[in-house]
Amino acid sequence: MAAKSPELVPVWWEVDAVGYIDQRRLPASILRARAESVDDVVAAIASLAVRGAPCIGAFGAYGVALARRQSPSDEAFASAAARIRAARPTAVNLSWAVDRVLAAERGEELAEAHAILDEQRMVDRAIADHAIPLFPNTGAVLTHCNTGPLATGGFGTALGAIVAAARAGKRLHVYVDETRPLLQGARLTTVELAAAGVPATLIVDGAAAATMRTKRVMAVIVGADRIAANGDTANKIGTYGLAVAAAHHAIPFYVAAPRSTIDFSLADGDGIAIEERDPDEVRAFRSAQAAPEGFDAYNPAFDVTPGHLIAAIVTEYGVARPPYVESIPDIATRPRFALVNVPA
Ligand code: MRU
Repeated sequence: MAAKSPELVPVWWEVDAVGYIDQRRLPASILRARAESVDDVVAAIASLAVRGAPCIGAFGAYGVALARRQSPSDEAFASAAARIRAARPTAVNLSWAVDRVLAAERGEELAEAHAILDEQRMVDRAIADHAIPLFPNTGAVLTHCNTGPLATGGFGTALGAIVAAARAGKRLHVYVDETRPLLQGARLTTVELAAAGVPATLIVDGAAAATMRTKRVMAVIVGADRIAANGDTANKIGTYGLAVAAAHHAIPFYVAAPRSTIDFSLADGDGIAIEERDPDEVRAFRSAQAAPEGFDAYNPAFDVTPGHLIAAIVTEYGVARPPYVESIPDIATRPRFALVNVPA
């Protein structure tokens, strides 16, 4: 059963609600909140109070368990689950987790949600273990958005890999993109890196290419929200530009994500739905106005990095290399992953 523990555990089950850290309040405060209805669950996901692909999967799973308890009929339950499933479109982990709970025996929904979160913790550890050899023994690495415990409910994906490599003795310095417009890098990744004791420096997104050159960045590693069968990867807006800049500087660009982030049904990234958010998020810097009111703004939350720019995709099943049209479908057929040698 998934345990509630004090610090950066982003979601948990309460007797009659789903508990979560309201990530919008970080880093100023760790505010713990309760989603007591399906409306609350959907609102928490849509507002990014709960965010990060695996984390919204686990939270959505608990939301379905809550819906089962509160729904007066099977029809009401099905419609509640459909609303949770559609709360955000890009991260496939949400629909994957909702479908998994829906497939559970009646009365077993909560146990299935616990299993999803428990498994994520093991999956994250396995991803980190496989990723450690990809890092230099000494040097700078760059990351984007937030992929640590707050984003997964476990150890983290890309950020978990960085922390595991540091704990394994690699002397890494992490450059953290602030990640406009909602600053998941500045607000969240910094908190996680400070808690892990890994040396890091925050940069604005526009400084990434210059930082690659002047600080001799040796690897870029990011998470993912949906990976197509050819390796095309949707991740937080700005990731594509990072991959292009990394290619220009001959820096390996890595993606770390669980198998549940791979959408084996999609041949390529063209089929990935990209969430567009309120243009006011661009027109303002947090709540402070940054552009003339009503000025036209475009706010895609994600972009798609073509697989050919990605040196490796690390899942709990190991390191997949190009050609991804061969290595990714192979992951679908693997038996249970092995968990080995992860430093505590
Ligand atoms: O909009 P968000 O904050 O949910 O976007 C999250 C990201 O893009 C993460 O980098 C990605 O989900 C990987 S989470 C381990």
